[in-house]
Amino acid sequence: MFPLHVTLLVLLANIARCQDYDYDYQPFSMLGPSGPNCNKECDCPISFPSAMYCDSRKLKFVPIVPTGIKYLYLQNNLIEEIKAGVFDNVTDTLRWLVLDNNQITNAKIEKGTIDKLTALEKLFFSFNQITEAVIPPSKSLEELKMTNNKLSKFPSGLLNDKENLTSVSLQHNELTSEGIADAFKGPKKLLSLDLSHNKLKKLPAGVPSSLEILYADFNEIDKIGAGYLKKLPTLRYLRVSHNKLLDSGIPAGVFNVTSLLELDLSFNKLQSIPEINEQLEQLYLQANEINKFDLASFCKFTGPLNYSRLRHLRLDANNVTHTDMPPESANCLRQASDIMFE
Ligand SMILES: *[C@@H]1O[C@H](CO)[C@@H](O)[C@H](O)[C@H]1NC(C)=O
Ligand SMILES: *[C@@H]1O[C@H](CO)[C@@H](O)[C@H](O)[C@H]1NC(C)=O
Ligand SMILES: *[C@@H]1O[C@H](CO)[C@@H](O)[C@H](O)[C@H]1NC(C)=O
Ligand SMILES: *[C@@H]1O[C@H](CO)[C@@H](O)[C@H](O)[C@H]1NC(C)=O
Ligand SMILES: *[C@@H]1O[C@H](CO)[C@@H](O)[C@H](O)[C@H]1NC(C)=O
Repeated sequence: MFPLHVTLLVLLANIARCQDYDYDYQPFSMLGPSGPNCNKECDCPISFPSAMYCDSRKLKFVPIVPTGIKYLYLQNNLIEEIKAGVFDNVTDTLRWLVLDNNQITNAKIEKGTIDKLTALEKLFFSFNQITEAVIPPSKSLEELKMTNNKLSKFPSGLLNDKENLTSVSLQHNELTSEGIADAFKGPKKLLSLDLSHNKLKKLPAGVPSSLEILYADFNEIDKIGAGYLKKLPTLRYLRVSHNKLLDSGIPAGVFNVTSLLELDLSFNKLQSIPEINEQLEQLYLQANEINKFDLASFCKFTGPLNYSRLRHLRLDANNVTHTDMPPESANCLRQASDIMFE
């Protein structure tokens, strides 16, 4: 029984880790003894010699990284500065740099550090104190996370040569709509952009047509441009909950696009249900001021092939009840297994 018990604990600890950090992180303790070519402050597993673990050990600065290291873990320290030269032996080999949960400011990132990394694929820089985005010259960048910092702008052009960038996470900053104008135009393979918990007044302009996920919850968005979604033919998940949307800010048919599967407009000030496409599967409208149930928002016409694919619809915390649904609803909303009024 004992080994099983331990395995379970390790597994649970691992799951907790994954939820905390959202990337593949194996605790060093699972990987065996440290190899010889390692900074003495850190651990480099013999079984995984290209990784250097320097996380969670109260470091105040980034240690010198030896030749051969591709994956560098520095999260959960007290790092305030990055001194010139620390990456000199890995400028064209370092692939992952994890700096989450430190105290780094722009002023203390010296020249000749991140600005020399030409092979970086993942940069994780969340929970620090940066006011300006720090972007390596690497054209191979795939994933960028800078959540919970103090970014108020993200200049256009910074990501222009990042042809393989697929995911950008900038939630919990102070970004404004003016501050991010055309910032994300460059990366032509961008799939996911998270700008939740910022100060946007509208959805980001000039985002690439490759986008599949766009999150802008907890901003100050009060309207959506007519045709905004027409420029995003592969967008599947759109979240604009906890904003200031009014009916007057939703042009007719703006959400009636076939690609969308999930639309979250909860916690706004809508009084009617916007028109959606037959292909939408999840619609969240809870905590608005909706006071009527207009079936034409879902189906303008109902027939054997013409019906809404909606499965989940939330209308709780509004001013409608199931008695407001007309009898024909059952035919139009024939796939809806879950319609919530309270
Ligand atoms: C960096 O590379 C130089 C030249 O190859 C080598 O002499 C030195 O020991 C390396 N330093 C570290 C920390 O790996
Ligand atoms: C982008 O990804 C492709 C496919 O993985 C790869 O062949 C290419 O070298 C990458 N480009 C850069 C600049 O890293
Ligand atoms: C959505 O657009 C299609 C095609 O233009 C149209 O036939 C349909 O009635 C619209 N749906 C709603 C709910 O407005
Ligand atoms: C009914 O559905 C078919 C197939 O999805 C579509 O081509 C047609 O335009 C729809 N008719 C109406 C009146 O919406
Ligand atoms: C809620 O709806 C009822 C019936 O449609 C209406 O009489 C009432 O004024 C509405 N209340 C609010 C706060 O909109």
